[in-house]
Amino acid sequence: MPLMTWDSSLDVGVADMNREHQQILDLMNKIYDAREAGQTGASVIALVDRLAQVTIDHFRDEETYMEKTGYAGLASHKLIHKDLLEKFTGFADEIKASGGTVPDRFLTFLKLWLSAHIRGIDMKYGPKAGDLAA
Ligand SMILES: [Fe+2]
Ligand SMILES: [Fe+2]
Repeated sequence: MPLMTWDSSLDVGVADMNREHQQILDLMNKIYDAREAGQTGASVIALVDRLAQVTIDHFRDEETYMEKTGYAGLASHKLIHKDLLEKFTGFADEIKASGGTVPDRFLTFLKLWLSAHIRGIDMKYGPKAGDLAA
């Protein structure tokens, strides 16, 4: 069973960003499944590294998109990305130091990030922003 599944509440209305969010969600579920299967070691670390790369690329693409569209909330959104990446890196270092053991806290962090960040923060740069309460 996946940690989280895609549904329309995560649709930000921008196809490229949806695709990248789905990629992040997919890797998150792979890490969750690996942990559920009792896996540790290099294969788990490789998944975490892959998620780090996909996330870095996604934040860059999202920031480029917001620049292109002249989104007013760009600066604060960038700061939130920076903070998320720092937290992610902290977890990734911890997972590497432990030989690929994934703590519950990491999965909670990932799940919260996807659900809260996409629905609450990312949603504001897309065409559906007007649907959100101010
Ligand atoms: Fe974002
Ligand atoms: Fe995003």
